Amino acid sequence: PDTAIIVVAAGSGTRLDAGAPKAFVGIDGHSILRHALEGVFAAAPAQVIVVAPAGFEGDAETELRAAAGQRRELGRVVTGGDTRQQSVAAGLAALWGDVSTVLVHDAARALTPPAVIDRVADAVDGVVGVIPTLPVVDTLKRVDGSAIVGPVDRDALAAAQTPQGFPRALLESAYAAALASGIEYTDDAALYAAAGHRVGHIPGDARGFKITTPADLERARQLLAAEPL
Ligand code: C5P
Repeated sequence: PDTAIIVVAAGSGTRLDAGAPKAFVGIDGHSILRHALEGVFAAAPAQVIVVAPAGFEGDAETELRAAAGQRRELGRVVTGGDTRQQSVAAGLAALWGDVSTVLVHDAARALTPPAVIDRVADAVDGVVGVIPTLPVVDTLKRVDGSAIVGPVDRDALAAAQTPQGFPRALLESAYAAALASGIEYTDDAALYAAAGHRVGHIPGDARGFKITTPADLERARQLLAAEPL
């Protein structure tokens, strides 16, 4: 395939407080990583790089094998780093073959519909990166200490999700520039834009929320109970 999906799963999950790296915490009978990979392998065929926490590569292999089935040869596990950015860089270094489009996906967004993955991959074109977004529904305020200092125009904002898709060569050079600068970016789109490239957005999906807190894990459990994948 000419598309690769880097699934970053090397976070510690301290905010989830579940006693294991977040990717290996169970939602139902299956882990967060297993659900994320089921979604990835239900999308159009792509090379899949799973970035695992150091010491958990074997566990990641097990989840990869279970989700990939016949497509096992499309997948590979590598060891992540101390920050998300370092984990993505480790994933990029592990690509093989003629990949021209790279999607970077948080394993923590375990219930992301395969259709979102396909929409992002299809929308990457030429030099432009693509991210899925949702409208912001909350009323937002600008604050200064304890004071409200002004309204925020919600229509000018969007909430970013993953997978975020980019032309491979430009993403690799943007990562090299970020490494040289020593700057840690909030996401791949910010890193890519900092290198001078354009990023567009397409509609995300509510099921693509990031499992971060115990309440998020409970939401994922309820969604799966109501509507199993
Ligand atoms: O911590 P948070 O949920 O925001 O991390 C987003 C994603 O990045 C998660 O899927 C997590 O496993 C991954 N990550 C990583 N390596 C790190 C930190 C986070 O792969 N050092």
